[in-house]
Amino acid sequence: MKIGIIGAGNIGANAAKSFIEAGYEIAIANSRGAETLKDLVAELGENAQAVSIEEAAKFGEIVFISIPFGKYKTLPADAFAGKIVVDSNNYYPDRDGNFAELDDNKTTSSELLAEHLRGARIVKGFNTIWFEHLKTQGDTNKPTEERRAIFIAGDDAEAKKTVTKLIEEIGFAAVDTGSLRDGGLTQEPGTAVYNRELTASDAQAMLDGSGGY
Ligand SMILES: NC(=O)c1ccc[n+]([C@@H]2O[C@H](COP(=O)([O-])OP(=O)(O)OC[C@H]3O[C@@H](n4cnc5c(N)ncnc54)[C@H](OP(=O)(O)O)[C@@H]3O)[C@@H](O)[C@H]2O)c1
Repeated sequence: MKIGIIGAGNIGANAAKSFIEAGYEIAIANSRGAETLKDLVAELGENAQAVSIEEAAKFGEIVFISIPFGKYKTLPADAFAGKIVVDSNNYYPDRDGNFAELDDNKTTSSELLAEHLRGARIVKGFNTIWFEHLKTQGDTNKPTEERRAIFIAGDDAEAKKTVTKLIEEIGFAAVDTGSLRDGGLTQEPGTAVYNRELTASDAQAMLDGSGGY
């Protein structure tokens, strides 16, 4: 199985490592071009290749995006048609500039991405976990309810199933926060689930409003 990864920084590079360890083939891209990713792909091994952004989008059934949110309109929309897209981006106005529709809570960053990548099947995910935890906290030996939660949101049930499987294969557990809109709001920076080290069962109890949360 193949995954395209766009963004090769803290999250993109560490997600790439985890996906390769789980048996996937990856093609990874950044903004500066494949030649700047030689060292990374050498480290990642034979199941990794550095490619252009368009090639990364076309490479796999899943495309994992991890870039500064403010750059989302630079992504070549046509290349993502039909793809399951994992949106790990967060909106940080200090870094990304202000988006009035986000500041007014009229929409979410993932809905804006979905509007741009029309035809793609967007699942917000991996945006609430710090990259150091992504590196170290996956454990496939634990039962899923005891694993560290990775929150997901989206409007496409099948796409969420595929992303849930991917999350489980790298030793975490997916916890569904709902639609791209409602779940997207639940998962934003500064919310109760953001960067919280929760097991899947505690995370679910928190979302259900039970278990002392
Ligand atoms: N850091 C975390 O722990 C964490 C956790 C969850 C979510 N996030 C979110 O995930 C995203 C990435 O965070 P990060 O910490 O991994 O950032 P980062 O270390 O700064 O890496 C960003 C990556 O995106 C690439 N990039 C920038 N603009 C691009 C464009 N227009 N097209 C394609 N690639 C582009 C960069 O490539 P170049 O170097 O070539 O420009 C770089 O490889 C952000 O939205 C962040 O808020 C971060």
